[in-house]
Amino acid sequence: MLANYKILTVTHKSTNLKSIGDFVIKAADEAELKSRLEAIKSQFQLDELLYLPTCNRVMYLFTTSRPLDQRFISSFFKHINPNLSDTTFGHIDEIVDALEGAAALEHLLDVAASVDSLVIGERQILRQLREAFEQCWQWSLAGHFIRLAYQQAVAAAKAVYSNTRIGEKPVSIVSLAIQKLLKTKLSKSARILLIGAGQTNQLVGKFLLKHAFTNVVVFNRSLGKAKELAGMLDGESFTLDLLPSYTAGFDCLVVCTGATDSVITPELYTTLLQGDSSRKVVIDLSVPHNVAEAVVENNNIHYIEIEGLRNMAQVNLSFREREVKHARNILIQYLQEFPALLKQRQLELAMHRVPTEIKAVKDKAINEVFRKEVEMLDGQSRELMEKMLAYMEKKCIGIPMRVAREAVLAG
Ligand SMILES: NC(=O)c1ccc[n+]([C@@H]2O[C@H](COP(=O)([O-])OP(=O)(O)OC[C@H]3O[C@@H](n4cnc5c(N)ncnc54)[C@H](OP(=O)(O)O)[C@@H]3O)[C@@H](O)[C@H]2O)c1
Repeated sequence: MLANYKILTVTHKSTNLKSIGDFVIKAADEAELKSRLEAIKSQFQLDELLYLPTCNRVMYLFTTSRPLDQRFISSFFKHINPNLSDTTFGHIDEIVDALEGAAALEHLLDVAASVDSLVIGERQILRQLREAFEQCWQWSLAGHFIRLAYQQAVAAAKAVYSNTRIGEKPVSIVSLAIQKLLKTKLSKSARILLIGAGQTNQLVGKFLLKHAFTNVVVFNRSLGKAKELAGMLDGESFTLDLLPSYTAGFDCLVVCTGATDSVITPELYTTLLQGDSSRKVVIDLSVPHNVAEAVVENNNIHYIEIEGLRNMAQVNLSFREREVKHARNILIQYLQEFPALLKQRQLELAMHRVPTEIKAVKDKAINEVFRKEVEMLDGQSRELMEKMLAYMEKKCIGIPMRVAREAVLAG
């Protein structure tokens, strides 16, 4: 069964962060995402599926007995993004990592423990992994085998965070972006528009507060979260559909949503400028990017996006590299434990039928094999017989489970 765990992933290690967006599922909303994931599961005959898009990777973890050959990988990503170019498919093996069995599990543990992250030791990934798992579990895409791998990854990651210094001096993509923002010498009273009010922009908001920026307006698809974030920053809040009619201008735009298409189009950007031609700061931390390329190319912008933070992340990496070695030793222990957990799960599945089958034997004994003899029993004897059989039934169900568990533990 371990061999059936497969991962197809595109990460910051194999391509630039912007291109990762080409391998993400484009969906207007959750309902569309669900139905696209269901279609992938059925078309590629996957037993279980977990989809994890983050700012520095997109990961498809699934279980199937089908091999991950070149044909499978190409048709998988053609299905996800029919617009991928022939040139991309020409060297897809350099962009996509295809991992099977123990290697797939090892990668999952590395991701959860953040030793594979762009910013090593950032803990956001655990939250993202949890949310991805819960969503796929709720949508019946992930089942018990993925649950088992996910739980082991979370346990391993927690052990790494508590027994190494990997998370010390925490930095995140957001804190790096803010460091860059501060270097632009943006005035503390500059007009800042936050587009999106998810986890990432909430973190942006905390930094803006810490650095005493005083003029922030929040736009978000749903008003509740916009209000909450604006409340923290003592600013105004609006729904995203009101952005095209916003006429108060801006100095800095921070765009970070889960939308898979451009949120800031050239037309919208021109409207927001209100004829102002001074240099603006535009921060786009979304993957895929939410600010259209043409906006960046054709305007006077100080542009801050994830790929440009890579060098800063490298400096952070050298500080934590020693801890990665230590983390890997911990992860190995969790990897080694996994086959036994898997066997136990398979056993539980196999044992699932035991109670029903034992009950059937009991019923057959009473109603068929010994029917005549049972009919001759008086009430008291029959009651005793039934009590004894019920006792035997209960014990017989427990014994094979216990023996099998002991066999698994003994290796
Ligand atoms: N988390 C990180 O560490 C991190 C770091 C850097 C970059 N990023 C990237 O930042 C982006 C957002 O991540 P997140 O962690 O902040 O996500 P999140 O907590 O799930 O929040 C998503 C936000 O995007 C909005 N949104 C979702 N779909 C939308 C759509 N189709 N149109 C308009 N708005 C939409 C949501 O609005 P509602 O409130 O209405 O749902 C919410 O404000 C992603 O591209 C992610 O890869 C994340």
